[in-house]
Amino acid sequence: NVPADFINGLPKAELHVHIEGTLEPELLFELAKRNKIDLKYPTVEALKEAYSFSRLQDFLDIYYEGANVLQTEQDFYDLTWAYLQKAKEQGIVHTEIFFDPQTHTSRGIELGVVVTGIHRALDDGREQLGITSKLIMCFLRHMVELSAFKTLEDALPYRHLIYAVGLDSSEKGNPPSKFLDVFLKAKAEGFRLVAHAGEEGPEDYIREAIDLLRVDRIDHGNASIQDDHLVEVLKQRQIPLTLCPLSNKALKVVTNLEEHPLKKMLHKGLLVTVNSDDPAYFGGYINENYEAVSNALLLSKDELAQLAKNSFEGSFLTPDEKQKYL
Ligand code: HPA
Ligand code: ZN
Repeated sequence: NVPADFINGLPKAELHVHIEGTLEPELLFELAKRNKIDLKYPTVEALKEAYSFSRLQDFLDIYYEGANVLQTEQDFYDLTWAYLQKAKEQGIVHTEIFFDPQTHTSRGIELGVVVTGIHRALDDGREQLGITSKLIMCFLRHMVELSAFKTLEDALPYRHLIYAVGLDSSEKGNPPSKFLDVFLKAKAEGFRLVAHAGEEGPEDYIREAIDLLRVDRIDHGNASIQDDHLVEVLKQRQIPLTLCPLSNKALKVVTNLEEHPLKKMLHKGLLVTVNSDDPAYFGGYINENYEAVSNALLLSKDELAQLAKNSFEGSFLTPDEKQKYL
């Protein structure tokens, strides 16, 4: 086994982490108390026991419920700051963070409160921890496209703080094509584009995300391995895949990590990266994800270093900014 300190010592970028998914049970309880919100669970332990999932939707139900404790700008600051401190401990030097505006605006929390709180922490992270960052706003794919359009409109005053647009939530039955028009609009507004695809959904959704939405990278993309032609396209165009091994295990996308496609993908020449997705819910931050796949798939130091390099290559940093990590 590759020692944990080798993985920890690799400078890494994280390209797939939902800030709402970094809400640890302890902070969740603290924010509930601060905001005088009654929780269904009496203790941190009781809440943690509910973190047992058979599929993506099981997780999403609990994740959206947890997000209800986030109310004020300070709450979003505290959430993001806690993640950044963890990121610092684990050798992350650059992070591209998702947030889900509709999860909050649908509860009456203004988009400005969310963006400003997260962004203030990212600024402090840059100054105090030396971690660079970008923000990615995700549309919830279980909602109608009109709601995504409204979200895009609401975000325009914060255009300078948001780098890219993404697509997440319940994948099956909500193909990328449902969001073609709003992605075209986002692109015209100058946003870079990403989308979750091929996590629980079919390889067809990955094709749609690439050919129709014209995304810059695919979040997850596990299903691509089932289609040789798609693999060839991803390879030729070096479209990054942001894999999340512990998430896949927790949500039963793979039955066990020994069956995870990461190593095969790496050997086929795909630009694969390792990420934590929702670390507070899936049992590990980025290093635990590297360690888990490394142990399950017997990755060498060279392969681990390649994955860390890929994380910069696949990032939205400029070629100049990437250079010092490659
Ligand atoms: N998939 C889809 N939606 C999500 C995820 C995920 O892994 N995490 C948070 N929202
Ligand atoms: Zn995700």
